[in-house]
Amino acid sequence: MLLYEGKAKQIFSTENENEYLVYYKDDATAFNGEKKASINSKGILNNKICTAMFEMLEKEGINTHFIKGISDREMIVKKVEILPLEVIVRNITAGSFCKRYGIEEGIVLEEPIFELSYKNDDYGDPMLNDDHAVAMKLATREELAFLREETLKINEIMKKFFLNMNFKLVDFKLEFGKDVNGNIILADEISPDTCRLWDVDTNEKFDKDRFRRDLGDLVEGYTEVLSRIEN
Ligand code: C5P
Repeated sequence: MLLYEGKAKQIFSTENENEYLVYYKDDATAFNGEKKASINSKGILNNKICTAMFEMLEKEGINTHFIKGISDREMIVKKVEILPLEVIVRNITAGSFCKRYGIEEGIVLEEPIFELSYKNDDYGDPMLNDDHAVAMKLATREELAFLREETLKINEIMKKFFLNMNFKLVDFKLEFGKDVNGNIILADEISPDTCRLWDVDTNEKFDKDRFRRDLGDLVEGYTEVLSRIEN
């Protein structure tokens, strides 16, 4: 049964009450759904890239919702209740950070920036701080401290992983969920839809900015990401 349909994925219940099935669609959206397209095979690429990312992070000791892949577009994950927070890390300036603060793109930050947003499309996912999140009962102080620590750990692992394949990890968004035992684990997806990846030598962009800013063929970019991961 379809439980939830997002912009790029559908979540189904399964025969196992502790598991969900995630189906990766071909749809691409940007600017909170204002720009839309269906891009043939994007779902397949993202499912494969996400699978590789979750498997790699699990090996590095990060608990994720990933259980197994079952087809080109589908994976089985642990049932979680997604926290209504988007966690963003920035290593290099880009995107909304540049727009909001009038800062040039491409400046390497001395320390990663950790940001929280309230996951709510109606209000455009507004940025918030710990006090807001606690006041709005989105998470406890302890949970927020864990999210920060875990996210910065994931950033170090992912930065190294991508650098090995000649990509700079500019920034990315994570979502966490509570599993049936109440543990907070990494959920949702990690793909070029949710990470900015630039080639180390040329700064060419291989992520969703290709679609957002018409910077080139999206499938070509994501295919290159997958092929560098696989080689
Ligand atoms: O748009 P912004 O610069 O804040 O995005 C930072 C990072 O978070 C980018 O890698 C973007 O792809 C990701 N992001 C996302 N989903 C959102 C907002 C941002 O995957 N709703």
